[in-house]
Amino acid sequence: MIKKEFKFFYEAYDSIVELAKEDAGLLIEARKSTQNAYAPYSHFQVGAAARLMNGLIVSGSNEENASFPAGLCAERVVLASVSSRYPGLALKAMAVSYQNINGDSDRPIFPCGICRQSFQEYEHRYKQPIRLVLSGLEGMVFVIPHAGSLLPLAFTAEELG
Ligand code: THU
Repeated sequence: MIKKEFKFFYEAYDSIVELAKEDAGLLIEARKSTQNAYAPYSHFQVGAAARLMNGLIVSGSNEENASFPAGLCAERVVLASVSSRYPGLALKAMAVSYQNINGDSDRPIFPCGICRQSFQEYEHRYKQPIRLVLSGLEGMVFVIPHAGSLLPLAFTAEELG
C-alpha cells in the first residue's frame, strides 16, 4: 500500500487593491453582477464574471426557481452562457462575489460541488486552467489558479471511453 496525498495552494489577499489589474477588473464585474441575481427564495445574491481568452468579459448571476432544484448557480449561468455564445473560446478566469440576506459579504465563498464538476468539464474541454477570484463585496480575496484543484480525483470524460 502507498499513501497518496493531494495538496493545493491558493493565494489570499487582504483586499481588491492588492490584486493584479486583470483580476481586480474581473472582480468588480462580479460584484456588480450580484445586483442582477434572481434569488427571491434564498436572498443569496451571487454574481460571476468570466474573462475569455480574447479578453472579453461575460457576467451572470444566480437564477432561482420555485421548484428549488431547477435553480442555477451564477458560475454555471456564466459557463453555459460563454459556451453557447462563444463556442470554441476558452475561459481564462472567473470571479465570484455575493451578498447574503443580512447584507454580509466580507469573506470569499467557494463554488458548490456541481459547479466544481462543471469547471472540471470546461478545463478538460479546453485544456485551459480556469483561474478563480473569490471575494465578497469587500474584504479578503482568494485566488485559486486552477479551478480543477477544488475537485480532486474528479470524474472526467476520459472515463467514458
Ligand atoms: N449559489 C451560487 O450561485 N453560487 C455559489 O457558489 C453558491 C450558491 C446560489 C445558488 C442559490 O441560488 C443560492 O446561491 C443559495 O444557495
